Amino acid sequence: MSPLRMVILGRQGSGKGTQSARIADAYGTVHISTGDMLRAAVAEGTELGRRAKAIMDAGELVPDEIMNGVVAERLAKPDVVERGFLLDGFPRTPDQAEALAAICDGTDRPLTVAVNLEVPVDEVMRRMLARGRDDDTAEAIARRLELYEEQTAPLLAWFAERGLLETVDGLGTEDEVFERLRAVIDARLDRAAAG
Ligand code: AP5
Ligand code: MG
Repeated sequence: MSPLRMVILGRQGSGKGTQSARIADAYGTVHISTGDMLRAAVAEGTELGRRAKAIMDAGELVPDEIMNGVVAERLAKPDVVERGFLLDGFPRTPDQAEALAAICDGTDRPLTVAVNLEVPVDEVMRRMLARGRDDDTAEAIARRLELYEEQTAPLLAWFAERGLLETVDGLGTEDEVFERLRAVIDARLDRAAAG
């Protein structure tokens, strides 16, 4: 069976990181979280980290040309070529979606599926305030959610037009959500295998 190449979409705090860890474990695919990559760069004090820190704390988006370069480089690595990928936090603008399409479309490594993890705003607010990451301040959360509606939500239609979108209810226990994700991923992998 060909490796899973997936995008997980959904509001901030919807559980993308939580579920991605489980999916990566179950399917052997490489979890690529752009937020985790940026936080690692901040912790290491690299040039990227120095540029990203203030942007992230304010809940703004790191510029597309930087993110597109970071992701293109990561997707070219041998582990990803061999095991596939699960992109979490990318793409989140139309420009980033085009950059991903330029990498995947028309190759023998197309996307398997893009899943929208659907969780209402009041619940994601509750989850993020309980989590308490550096950028989980009321102001930064509000700005991230605003940018989500403006820049990222339109990508749902973009993926749907390409026949790649599945929507999964993200409410319930982590186990319940994972079982739902598993069902849609398995169905898509079967379809891909059937050609
Ligand atoms: P990023 O790290 O992607 O943060 P985010 O978009 O705010 O999303 P989160 O990580 O907060 O949400 P999540 O869906 O992963 O939820 P989680 O699993 O943690 O990005 C951070 C910043 O980096 C951005 O603001 C931007 O500045 C920059 N950036 C990153 N990518 C970029 C890009 N492509 N372009 C430009 N800039 C970029 O779950 C949330 C909480 O809920 C946790 O505490 C969890 O334990 C809990 N939880 C999970 N599942 C459940 C459940 N079923 N029931 C109850 N609680 C649950
Ligand atoms: Mg996350």
